[in-house]
Amino acid sequence: MTYDFTTRISRKDKGSAKWEYMYQCCDKVEDNIVPLSVADMEFKTPPCIVEGLKDFLDNAVLGYTVPYKSYLEIVKKWFLKRHDFKIESQWIVQSPGVVNAFTAALRSLCKEGDGVIVFKPIYPPMVGAIESNNFKEVNIPLLNREERYEIDFDAFEKEASNPNNKVLLFCSPHNPVGRVWTKEELLKIGKICLENNITIISDEIWMDLIRPGKKHHILANLSPEIRDITITCTAPSKSFNIAGLYNSNTIVSNEELRKNLKEELVKMRSTSINILGYKACEIAYTDGEDWLVELLKVLDENFKLCQDFFKKLNLPFANPEGTYILWVNFKPLGLDQEELHKFLYEKARIFTSPGSNFGEEGNGYERFNIALPTEVLKEHLQRLSDEIKKL
Ligand SMILES: Cc1ncc(COP(=O)(O)O)c(C=O)c1O
Repeated sequence: MTYDFTTRISRKDKGSAKWEYMYQCCDKVEDNIVPLSVADMEFKTPPCIVEGLKDFLDNAVLGYTVPYKSYLEIVKKWFLKRHDFKIESQWIVQSPGVVNAFTAALRSLCKEGDGVIVFKPIYPPMVGAIESNNFKEVNIPLLNREERYEIDFDAFEKEASNPNNKVLLFCSPHNPVGRVWTKEELLKIGKICLENNITIISDEIWMDLIRPGKKHHILANLSPEIRDITITCTAPSKSFNIAGLYNSNTIVSNEELRKNLKEELVKMRSTSINILGYKACEIAYTDGEDWLVELLKVLDENFKLCQDFFKKLNLPFANPEGTYILWVNFKPLGLDQEELHKFLYEKARIFTSPGSNFGEEGNGYERFNIALPTEVLKEHLQRLSDEIKKL
């Protein structure tokens, strides 16, 4: 390995959401414990980004920002090179993060009471964006086929044909179940939405984190017709561990959808992004690919390690096709929600994300973030395994 994916780093007292949530659960936490919850990584941000930002800061004037030509060119190149998606500069809309982008997109498409289709379990802020804006959540639970999750196309088609339902808020790859949707599945989604005037907000923030042998297809890239009804939310944050810089690139080819989205971002006062976010994205998409390729190998190794562990413990899990999260079914332990968390936090000292946060379909599940040094992950899994054996 050329890059460092092994150093153990404490993020205590550094403003890390993941670490602070852990201390909120438990005020006394041993120094060797690392939280496995919020989706950022316990790896150093790539050296090209850190060094590049230092160079930039040496002569920087940290003023207000707007997108600039070389930035847009680099974003375009990344999409073409890694995803075979040819985009135009004017299709790219900036906002401070993907949650912000999909919230603005929803607000630009729906009025109060309009139905928004989601496939649960799903990333909680998607539901938050629907609820806090008084839109109607239309949940079509994913079909759990022995921990491989699939879309219930019959139910989807039925809900799509209801004229009160206006938008599909889609997660691709899917957080938390780790599915990388196949081309066939995506085409089916596109067809149903086209036939029923449903606009798609496709959150593809995990697009670069795909396991060997799997391929991510950008939904909007499957046909000009699908592209025309799709708002694609992306960011470099998951791929390069720069979530704290709040940058996102939303791709919208349809002029009217783009105009409405931009107007909503103005209303939300959310048009500008951090100057370091621009710079970090530019550096990542120019010089970060080698690091990303190595990262994917480490993540794959970590997934395999988890799979061996959970198989031995007889705890079923969704075999992830992408992302760096693992969705594990703890129901075989026979503990209720409260007992499970008491066990995980107090006995095993494992701080994962409770599955119930992702919808009632997640009751009894835990979401593990496995983006941490392999040896540290091993220690945590061993501790969990030892404690489970004592139950
Ligand atoms: C599907 C999905 N969308 C969006 C985000 C967060 O995006 P941002 O930090 O850019 O708001 C996450 C983070 O976990 C995510 O999993």
